[in-house]
Amino acid sequence: MNTARGLEGVVAATSSISSIIDDKLTYVGYDIDDLAENALFEEVVFLLWHRRLPKKQELEDFKKLLAENAPIPKELIDHLKSYPNQKVHPMAALRTAVSFLGLFDDEADVFTKEANYNKAVRLQAKIPTIVAAFSRIRKGLEPVEPRKDLNFAANFLYMLNGEEPDQVAVEAFNKALVLHADHELNASTFTARVCVATLSDVYSGVTSAISALKGPLHGGANEQVMKMLMEIGSVENVEPYIRKKLANKEKIMGFGHRVYRNGDPRAKHLKKMSEKLTKLTGEPKWYDISTKIESIVTAEKNIPPNVDFYSASVYHSLGIEHDLFTPIFAISRMSGWLAHILEQYENNRLIRPRAEYVGPGKQTYVKLEDRG
Ligand code: ACO
Repeated sequence: MNTARGLEGVVAATSSISSIIDDKLTYVGYDIDDLAENALFEEVVFLLWHRRLPKKQELEDFKKLLAENAPIPKELIDHLKSYPNQKVHPMAALRTAVSFLGLFDDEADVFTKEANYNKAVRLQAKIPTIVAAFSRIRKGLEPVEPRKDLNFAANFLYMLNGEEPDQVAVEAFNKALVLHADHELNASTFTARVCVATLSDVYSGVTSAISALKGPLHGGANEQVMKMLMEIGSVENVEPYIRKKLANKEKIMGFGHRVYRNGDPRAKHLKKMSEKLTKLTGEPKWYDISTKIESIVTAEKNIPPNVDFYSASVYHSLGIEHDLFTPIFAISRMSGWLAHILEQYENNRLIRPRAEYVGPGKQTYVKLEDRG
């Protein structure tokens, strides 16, 4: 049997959603660089779900649909209030809350194309409301109701902080959402597809995906990057800190990628944003520390930064709590998970690979009383 450790290089599905070819990332054929510079997140969600860009009126209607579906049930707010908040990681809270939300969806187990699309809309619309509500509740504050007149990025920042964000913050956050929306068969998306390929429901698919994103080798890396930046604290400390980690063969969070070998095309956009935002907030040291880390890791290991590395200082500059970085990734990636879930249903076959058995050979069963 041929085994590929970690399924490296294995092509496990066909998909028309996003592609990584020669270190270039495209969504439905559109270069990520063009989308990052020009597109609204809602436009990208439409693109991923419909495989074409929306016309002007279609985009307006889609934005309205998401805004109208943003409120979450009172039962879910009460449920969030019951969490032992100080101890709960927001990704654990999100995993539980999204699963709980499914209990209130009358179409949760309806398998028509229309019902599945409706659930996708509801999940995409409500995930920022859940994350913001959890963040406020754990601080002893009441959740802020979503507004219908704000776009997706602005509405999340508004619900999080209770005040309307400025244009720079909205544009930066929108760009981060666009950059994280989909990424071919990454670990969480694959998890979602494996789950729904059993013909399990959409809520189960995204709940499994959130669980996979939580890990530090995947989406959890952005929070770990910020932890590292805080531990380092100043540019002078970078050199000894990073060299010690490399000497101990420890991984530097936010570097490396299974697919990209010459660099993650999303990283340069976040790097630019990090430089701008850290200057604006009067904390350029986070950018300076980051670039110093990058120069050492690339010189020593020839491993470039991935999407998570500069997103840490970007989110920090937007005033977002560090343990919300991965839930924010989930808010964006929800769009990709849902696109893949709907695509999987369209042409489904159970995903069931094999394992090469490497355990003991044939053994003889010994009765319990004879085992000593
Ligand atoms: N720091 C230091 N060395 C690294 C790093 C890193 N971040 N990443 C890979 N390497 C080294 C490994 O130690 C290994 O070296 P060796 O051959 O001398 O043992 C070699 O590069 C290959 O590493 P693998 O872990 O086998 O590569 P793999 O493709 O399995 O892993 C992964 C990819 C998980 C992203 C890895 O690079 C990593 O752990 N990075 C840090 C965590 C991270 O940033 N994750 C986010 C990824 S992007 C995303 O999911 C959104």
